[in-house]
Amino acid sequence: MISRDIGSFPLLVAMRDAFRSDHRFSADIVDRAYNAFGDDWAQAFEEALGRMFRTAEERAAAIRGYAAFAMTSLRLQARFELSGEYKSKTYAQAAAEVYHNEAYMQAEYLPGLFLSHYLWTHHYRQVQFFETAFVDHLRVAGIDRFVEVGVGTGLYSRLALQRLPGATGQGIDISVSSQRFAERQMAAFDLGDRYAVRLEDATVDTPAASAPALICVEVLEHLEDPTAFLRALRRVLAPTGKAFITAALNAAHTDHIYLYRSPAEVEAQLIAAGFVVEQYWVGQAYAPPRAGVPVPLAAAFVVA
Ligand SMILES: C[S@@+](CC[C@H](N)C(=O)[O-])C[C@H]1O[C@@H](n2cnc3c(N)ncnc32)[C@H](O)[C@@H]1O
Repeated sequence: MISRDIGSFPLLVAMRDAFRSDHRFSADIVDRAYNAFGDDWAQAFEEALGRMFRTAEERAAAIRGYAAFAMTSLRLQARFELSGEYKSKTYAQAAAEVYHNEAYMQAEYLPGLFLSHYLWTHHYRQVQFFETAFVDHLRVAGIDRFVEVGVGTGLYSRLALQRLPGATGQGIDISVSSQRFAERQMAAFDLGDRYAVRLEDATVDTPAASAPALICVEVLEHLEDPTAFLRALRRVLAPTGKAFITAALNAAHTDHIYLYRSPAEVEAQLIAAGFVVEQYWVGQAYAPPRAGVPVPLAAAFVVA
């Protein structure tokens, strides 16, 4: 239910107007998310926009970045619908094109990912599952330290820090651009003294510390051998620890190289790596236009 008008959120209104005038394919995306999630969503998004992109120019650039990011997804998804395969690419190629491409990361990838977590309803539902099924459990269990592997924008780490007053977090990412964006986000929310990002290849340098909590969101589909990576994550997690691990399925993007077609495939890899699945959630990006057309899915697992 909408209890207020979106007019109470000026940055969202400006974003909606920008989409309507300059990026017609996303003309109704702000209204759709507002209709789905209401004022709590609007408040959270308005604050995030204001803190992360401080001027109208910065917000306009972030919207342009998101539009380019979403357009790339649409183009690659249309190709995937026809071929049934992702465009073949090695991890090294994806890393060079994306994670180590500072101009692309700052202009498109990171603002695109960041805004998508509020604008795409399946992404925001995954955020809600994270907060209620995972972070709230950490609070009740008194866990006040976590490691996030593949921090990207840093959104999930920031939400965990906000929901766990006094907790500290360690981010790990291979990309200096992600490191900068995530640390900028922590500073923008006054959380910088509780968080740092280490630059590491998590498939090679397994974090040494035994972590009571682990977060790994949308990294598996970026790797050539997700099961080997999951085994390493299991070794990092303390025996009594909990992890929140997700994957994007049937979702073509520039850096998606491992194609998961069903949530059961992710679950099987988690189990093979030694995890016990405690809860899971799966969301579709949209209803399929016809039976049999693959639709992007988000699948999130709380594991021990
Ligand atoms: C899709 S993003 C993850 C999304 C992120 N969780 C968020 O909320 O924004 C994938 C991230 O994984 C990082 N990554 C890819 N391969 C990696 C590796 N081998 N080690 C560490 N980080 C890696 C990329 O640099 C990128 O920041």
